[in-house]
Amino acid sequence: MLIPLDHRSPLPLYRQIQDFLSGEIRSGALPAHTRLPATRNLAQSLGVNRLTITTAYEGLAADGLVYGRQGSGTYVAPLSEAVTGPTAPVGASQDWPLWQQELLSHTWLPAQYELDRMSAALDRPDAISFAAGMGDSSLFPIDDFRRAVTDILRRDGRAALSYGERAGFAPLRATIARIVTERGIRALPQHILVTSGSQQGLSLVARLLLRPGDVALVESPTYAGAIDLFRSLDVRLAGVPVDAQGMQVDRLEALLTTHHPRLIYTMPTYQNPTGTCLSTARRRQLIDLAGRYNVPILEDEFAGDLHYEDAAPLPLAALDPGGRVIYMGTFSKMLMPGLRLGFLVAVGPVYERLLAAKRVDDLSSSSLIQRALEAYITVGRYQAHLRRACQLYGHRRDTMAEALRRYLPAGADWTTPAGGLFIWLRLPGGLTGQALAPVAAGEGVGFAPGELFFPGGRSQPYVRLNFAEHPPERIEEGVRRLGRAVVRCLSTGSGERQSGDVLHNEMPAI
Ligand SMILES: Cc1ncc(COP(=O)(O)O)c(C=O)c1O
Repeated sequence: MLIPLDHRSPLPLYRQIQDFLSGEIRSGALPAHTRLPATRNLAQSLGVNRLTITTAYEGLAADGLVYGRQGSGTYVAPLSEAVTGPTAPVGASQDWPLWQQELLSHTWLPAQYELDRMSAALDRPDAISFAAGMGDSSLFPIDDFRRAVTDILRRDGRAALSYGERAGFAPLRATIARIVTERGIRALPQHILVTSGSQQGLSLVARLLLRPGDVALVESPTYAGAIDLFRSLDVRLAGVPVDAQGMQVDRLEALLTTHHPRLIYTMPTYQNPTGTCLSTARRRQLIDLAGRYNVPILEDEFAGDLHYEDAAPLPLAALDPGGRVIYMGTFSKMLMPGLRLGFLVAVGPVYERLLAAKRVDDLSSSSLIQRALEAYITVGRYQAHLRRACQLYGHRRDTMAEALRRYLPAGADWTTPAGGLFIWLRLPGGLTGQALAPVAAGEGVGFAPGELFFPGGRSQPYVRLNFAEHPPERIEEGVRRLGRAVVRCLSTGSGERQSGDVLHNEMPAI
């Protein structure tokens, strides 16, 4: 659980924690009978003294908001009308049936909830958030897509509104095969499985290949949605450090022998969140190691076509001698996330298994949207859209890098990425993303704190900034506000500090 703490505030930390939890309980975000994190764990993850947490919990108990169970922890109390006040959601004061209460004893919530909560906290009308994981929605080709949907309904009628083929609309699979062939992957339509977003692809692969307790190797840091997914499956994560050339593959062999992972999940191209690109030499080394240790690779190329310099190196799947790599793509970042269309490219027996898993999961992806997308791509609009997006986002990337140079104090550090959507900023003076967030929100700017991208959730002196979503003037203004927030934190000595020299690749052991 991430709780924003303002170390500059005259309000003591225990009171900030108590108030935050009190708000979450009263609003229904923490429902009755939810178990609060153990005091030791919460103290550790917030970097505060355990007594601070105990005092906060005692305050909540005195307000009738929590109750203790001997030997088992602290739980949210059912809300009486006296404590809910006029903002209580419908049903919040109900005593849920036992089976629902049992569900609530899980305290784990996806880290991405935290991002939603922080976005909601940025409630100034002129707020600028760099937290999103998508491109600029004003580029969405709404008119072209409306025409494509209308044409498809006219052309295909009922077929467009029926269940689709399990593997995906055949002409779209042929089109995707052509797109990935341009990236150097030898794929035929029968190797393509259309998924409902690449998040579903990730979920299908993880559920097929991993069992509770298994270990997956991931980059450190990695995509927060993957951490959430693996956690939801009780999969343990071991992190491979990342440097300017992507995953440090020379550290991999030791992890393979120690942890015997069942999957390597990687984003070699414009990695989320660091923006790094794995060198070709490391790509070859990675495939070689995965082959020797018999571990499948899931390659997530979520933004491979968003490049602002030379085209990205060949994907791992293009270097695969056969059946080692499952490749995953999406139309969310290059086009529109609302399509909910992604795809897997897999060869060998794994394909049929993934297809079966897809069938169990959601029968098929939307037939109408697949057909409309296929029509949109076929008339050449997709390539034109990509060219425009790359031109625009490349300029915005430069604008953000320039603004960071201008407004961030000495000690801030980042590498300008050659593609993708993000700049991974190391904060100066050991300031952590989590400590900066409330001060930045006060200035009217948001970001994704680095903590979200590390499975341990420990304090990290990093933030992820999306440079693609906003026009240059807003980027400039947002970074100016960010700089001001950083300076304020540093000059008042506020903000939790990360002591020592912490690398952005640090990740707690599994
Ligand atoms: C690296 C990465 N992979 C996968 C996804 C899932 O995206 P979608 O399900 O929209 O394709 C995201 C979304 O943010 C992402 O950043």
